[in-house]
Amino acid sequence: MNASSTTAERRQPLSVAVLISGRGSNFRALHQAADRIGIRIPVVISNRPDAEGLKYAQTAGVPACCIDRRKYSRSAFDQALQAKLDSLQPELLVLAGFMHILGDAFVADWSARMINIHPSLLPKYPGLNTHRNVLANGDSEHGASVHFVTAKLDGGPVISQCRIPVMPEDSPQSLARRLLPEEHRLLVRTVELFAGRRVELRDNLICLDERLLNDALQLDQDL
Ligand code: GAR
Repeated sequence: MNASSTTAERRQPLSVAVLISGRGSNFRALHQAADRIGIRIPVVISNRPDAEGLKYAQTAGVPACCIDRRKYSRSAFDQALQAKLDSLQPELLVLAGFMHILGDAFVADWSARMINIHPSLLPKYPGLNTHRNVLANGDSEHGASVHFVTAKLDGGPVISQCRIPVMPEDSPQSLARRLLPEEHRLLVRTVELFAGRRVELRDNLICLDERLLNDALQLDQDL
């Protein structure tokens, strides 16, 4: 491949499927930045029919579908999701507030092509109640992480993080509220790296511009 064909390839928007379960504000942030960062969103998929993000998809003209988790066994859900994705062949899968644990086989199939945004400074506080845990432990800072999805819950290699200070008067709600716009910026900038074909997973290690990353990229410093 010569240099000009590489450049031409980079101009192709990256096809990014987004998975949601609720409000969908991270999906909205990605959609609103899509043209600027060089992605297209061929579908947004919810595991819940009442996900607010589906309404935004409808008004914004993004193809959307619901695979209602309650109507499928665990493995049938993964198969239905895979069938939908097979028909569209996205290059990247973004879990944006997707509150369902995917099976190991699905995760293995999407290995290195699936990322998740999680509201904590991983490896701190995988799972639920991150804002509450930050306060319970008296942490002085909080944040969010974008990581590759592996079979270990919120345990895959961390690509990028954003940080906010914890104030004495903070509640779980105020932390969530202040963190959310930073999450949006973090997710958009991180997906932009994928759109530029700049980041990849090799042997479970993150490479940025062909160089191994020792630490997660920090929003506003590295991103
Ligand atoms: C976001 O805060 C995201 O980090 C979190 O759910 C929220 C979804 O908001 N994700 C997780 O907790 C995943 N473990 P949104 O639907 O408005 O994007």
